[in-house]
Amino acid sequence: MKKITIAIDGHSSCGKSTMAKDLARELGYVYIDTGAMYRAVTLFSIQKGLFTEEGIDTETLRQKMGEITISFKFNPETGRPDTYLNGERVEDRIRTMEVSNKVSPIAALDFVREAMVAQQQEMGKGGGIVMDGRDIGTTVFPNAELKIFVTASAEVRAQRRYDELTAKGETCDFQEILLNVQERDRIDSTRAVSPLRQADDAIVLDNSNITIPEQKEWLLEQVKKIIG
Ligand code: DC
Repeated sequence: MKKITIAIDGHSSCGKSTMAKDLARELGYVYIDTGAMYRAVTLFSIQKGLFTEEGIDTETLRQKMGEITISFKFNPETGRPDTYLNGERVEDRIRTMEVSNKVSPIAALDFVREAMVAQQQEMGKGGGIVMDGRDIGTTVFPNAELKIFVTASAEVRAQRRYDELTAKGETCDFQEILLNVQERDRIDSTRAVSPLRQADDAIVLDNSNITIPEQKEWLLEQVKKIIG
């Protein structure tokens, strides 16, 4: 059966990763979480002290881009790939509020995007891939056979992230998370390079009020329409 490229884009915290990961497993495809890649670059920048009082030391980051290797390794315990930064597992560290609060300006840097997009195109060049992010259907794989644009209200998304963090034992504040979600929407949609926008040929999915099983069924229907 033909192996297609599936691009899943949309706002932050609307369950894109869970959806993309489940779909990939169902189809026997590779799943790539591109947000994790921008988060890994952010963690690297924190570790190297590149967030200063004056802002991000972009020149040093630009010089150090060649020192960043991001990879994914399947974790059989969680059933999803873990993110590795220079050979070290960083899956939990890239999901903290500190990284969430700092990732948008890093993802807005042109040289960071250029490097990540090139890696993503390389990872997905053979098809049989489900990739989630913000610019997959518009920039990374504009010819993807199936493009889904996912959205949900900011409150629903903040509640999901709150539940996720509390389940991990992190202390967090709902209002802070809501503000973070809204601020990331603003930065992601208004940045100069590759802003978050729906591809003209993407199918919109608002999942504010549907269950995960309903969503899965809907997604599989969209895939079937293409691969038969
Ligand atoms: O999906 P996420 O919340 O893990 O994404 C983290 C950040 O990275 C978010 O601010 C948007 C940005 N991002 C991006 O600009 N382009 C992508 N393809 C994926 C994520």
